[in-house]
Amino acid sequence: MARRRQLYEGKAKVLFEGPEPGTVVQYFKDDATAFNNEKQGVITGKGVLNNRISEHLMTGLNGVGVPTHFIRRLNMREQLVRDVEIVPIEVVVRNVAAGSLSRRLGIPEGTILPRAIVEYYLKSDELNDPLITEEHILAFGWASQQDLDDMVQLAVRTNDFLSGLFQGIGLKLVDFKLEFGRQYEDEHMRIVLADEISPDSCRLWDMTTNEKLDKDRFRRDMGDVEDAYREVARRLGILPESDVQDIQDAQGPREVR
Ligand code: TMP
Repeated sequence: MARRRQLYEGKAKVLFEGPEPGTVVQYFKDDATAFNNEKQGVITGKGVLNNRISEHLMTGLNGVGVPTHFIRRLNMREQLVRDVEIVPIEVVVRNVAAGSLSRRLGIPEGTILPRAIVEYYLKSDELNDPLITEEHILAFGWASQQDLDDMVQLAVRTNDFLSGLFQGIGLKLVDFKLEFGRQYEDEHMRIVLADEISPDSCRLWDMTTNEKLDKDRFRRDMGDVEDAYREVARRLGILPESDVQDIQDAQGPREVR
């Protein structure tokens, strides 16, 4: 069988041409980077866990009317998604102060924010994903006013849904990053949630101990990174014990069919 055509390789994922027109296969790697690739490492089993976690969260979001690119999971490391044109903006939603917000504004980590805060960052490795405003987005045409309105509305709905879901399993959704895509169908275009939602792109703290169960463990050299990701999957109820060995076994890329 001919090897599938690779469309794009990012830091944590590879995209391959999908089996049908308008589809893409999203392959989850174990590679982890932080600080714009300055720090690199491997979190064994991360790809398998993030594939599962993102499937679970995107499916839940689809169920409450948030459109996403997710179609179905194909195997341990791959999922089939809709081919979308990625909007070059990272949308961050924050409920609790942490990370760059704490650094930039001097607000201590863990401070509950008076309201959810939505921020935009330009997706640009060369510029180190700078913080931008709506003015920049509209002036430079990175998104239209309608795109932006849709993105914010979906981001807020996603925050409501995910905050409740994580609260139910004893986790605080501190903040998270979303990416959106334009899905074209006939003459129509709609904005859908794209990329992934996982402990790579969220901050998740245990509700009672504030233990970090996300990529900050890797960024800050805290250790037990795999265990943290596995704990999130376990609490979500998507990690039967028998899968633990499969995760360790599923190392190489696989064919789609
Ligand atoms: P920050 O506090 O470093 O700006 O991160 C905010 C949220 O966005 C946090 O949940 C981690 C996530 N994030 C990404 O997914 N990718 C990135 O490149 C960065 C910097 C943050």
